[in-house]
Amino acid sequence: MEPARKSEVALGAAFREAMRHVAATVYAVTTTYEGRDYGILATAVSSLSFDPPSLLACIHREASLHKPLARAERFCVNILGLSNREVAEHFMIPNPPERFAVGEWEAHHGVPVLANAQSSLICTVANRHEFGTHTIFIGELIEANHREDATPLTYFDRNYIDISAAPERKRDT
Ligand SMILES: Cc1cc2nc3c(=O)[nH]c(=O)nc-3n(C[C@H](O)[C@H](O)[C@H](O)COP(=O)(O)O)c2cc1C
Repeated sequence: MEPARKSEVALGAAFREAMRHVAATVYAVTTTYEGRDYGILATAVSSLSFDPPSLLACIHREASLHKPLARAERFCVNILGLSNREVAEHFMIPNPPERFAVGEWEAHHGVPVLANAQSSLICTVANRHEFGTHTIFIGELIEANHREDATPLTYFDRNYIDISAAPERKRDT
């Protein structure tokens, strides 16, 4: 027998609860459009393929970044490390241009790149696809920078955690 379908509200709540317990990497997705810098904090980012090197970022259509990103040629996915926690917190302020007041931001290929991020992946906007409330932006990589010594910043259960301090789990024998 098929399990009873949950109501849409209950399904949404169950999905949120499930996703809350997914440990996620934290990204600052940034772009520049008509001389102004824009950026939001995001976790819905994923590598897409190595050939060509590409990634995707899912951006809410009402986010301040959406319109500029839909018009811009390039964007940067800044993978945040533990040392960028202040940047992550500051990115939640309401006024987008002021988000760049914390952290050392440089322009590469005309978009904001966080100098001491764990990694920065600069892309051209290759394609986009709308689904529900979000647009999936597909980026083709044009520059990648990585700091070997960085510790990842991870978001889990509505908090930032340090996964590098987590003990390795040995398999049960
Ligand atoms: C941990 C975390 C992850 C988020 N991930 C995303 C995401 O993947 N995509 C997205 O559009 N918004 C995401 N948001 C929301 C945005 O950061 C932002 O708050 C929202 O888009 C409103 O931004 P605005 O004030 O620039 O319009 C996330 C927020 C937090 C705190």
